[in-house]
Amino acid sequence: MPHLFEPFALKGVTLRNRIVAPPMCMYSATDGIVSQWQVAHLTQLATGGAGLVIVEATAVSPEGRITWGDVGLWNDGQADALRPVAAAIKATGAVPGIQLGHAGRKASANRPWEGDDHIADGAPHGWPTIGPSPLAFDDKKLWKVPSEMNVADVARVQADFVAAARRALDAGFEWLELHFAHGYLAQSFFSEHSNRRADRYGGSFANRGRFLLETIAAVREVWPDELPLTIRFGVIEYDGQDEETLAEAIALIQLFREAGIDLVSVSVGFSTVDAEIPWGPAFMAPVVSRVRRKTDLPVAIAWGLGTPEVADAAVRDGTADLVKVGQALLADPHWPFAAAMALGMERPSWATLPAPYAYWLERYRPKPAVPPGQPES
Ligand code: NDP
Ligand code: FNR
Repeated sequence: MPHLFEPFALKGVTLRNRIVAPPMCMYSATDGIVSQWQVAHLTQLATGGAGLVIVEATAVSPEGRITWGDVGLWNDGQADALRPVAAAIKATGAVPGIQLGHAGRKASANRPWEGDDHIADGAPHGWPTIGPSPLAFDDKKLWKVPSEMNVADVARVQADFVAAARRALDAGFEWLELHFAHGYLAQSFFSEHSNRRADRYGGSFANRGRFLLETIAAVREVWPDELPLTIRFGVIEYDGQDEETLAEAIALIQLFREAGIDLVSVSVGFSTVDAEIPWGPAFMAPVVSRVRRKTDLPVAIAWGLGTPEVADAAVRDGTADLVKVGQALLADPHWPFAAAMALGMERPSWATLPAPYAYWLERYRPKPAVPPGQPES
């Protein structure tokens, strides 16, 4: 069996294969309530055969949304709308997961196809942003200066993470990913690009890690031991300080592990516009395998894994335990089925698709073309 299709067990949960439909913002919610279109989209991703489907970055508070169209979990109505999503994902044989986040200084933005830039505070759909320090991300696009969070703000946001985690559990999710990446609030506490504080939440390595560690500890209290609690963490910025950042990130992940994190989804920090990211197939592989080796935690890899052979190799060569496939799944939600065929999996449709699809696809699967001049079998 191709390595990509081996089951994976973590805590009390078993994924049918190593393919993860990663969180992907659709910015199509109203007041944080997931739209019917998003329900269809997420169900479709699960029907395609991924082992784990993680609902897009879901804001723990209104101010923590990236755009006004983000999904939220700051009230019970939002949880009620997500409950059928978790149930539908589960009914397809995938494990339902959700990513909880707070956008910090990158919040209050227009949707990508409507400019991807900041909306002024007083304008419709805009609101004031918060962060560890009053530093804008990018003076051209995400230009708003966040107000510096005081200790009460820190405690409030952490309580919002806890309340959202409770609601996620109640809605039927079995895998929780905390969004500690991509320049959003948690990542921005860790990164010196965004954190210049002089109190116990800034400065030293221990202080810059404090917000993240405290949030994990608080969420672990309400998230059951038998279910995976994971983080997505930007361990490198590609900003010329890569050895220092990666060494610190690995040291922090070791502390995350002690605080109860079960798996790390390794990503880029996206904390600065002055980065030279080496985009290409599986470009994070050396970084991901180093995190796995040094922390002894299971890891997920992402970015540029949309070719079946590349995805399979990432598991086979021990780089990662799980593979996040993003845009390739948007292009073809049945990508896992296509990958199973490409990798020569036996009975690929039964391995990836629900029985009412698999029966017909296996029975009448197109046979390979007969080369000219050879007899048909
Ligand atoms: P940007 O989307 O502004 O991207 C930062 C830089 O990376 C830009 O130079 C951009 O190029 C380049 N880039 C981004 N993605 C790719 C790619 N797949 N292939 C090649 N170049 C790429 O940064 P953000 O911080 O807004 O987002 C970072 C990444 O996270 C993006 O890939 C984005 O798609 C994804 N994302 C994450 C979300 C989340 O975590 N909640 C939400 C939505 C998207 P260029 O300027 O040419 O576009
Ligand atoms: C993303 N990504 C992303 N990441 C994340 O942690 N939370 C999110 O909500 C989003 N949203 C999002 C939206 C869209 C439309 C895309 C394309 C991407 C990043 C995503 O989870 C994943 O890491 C990448 O898409 C993987 O790279 P490939 O497979 O698309 O190359």
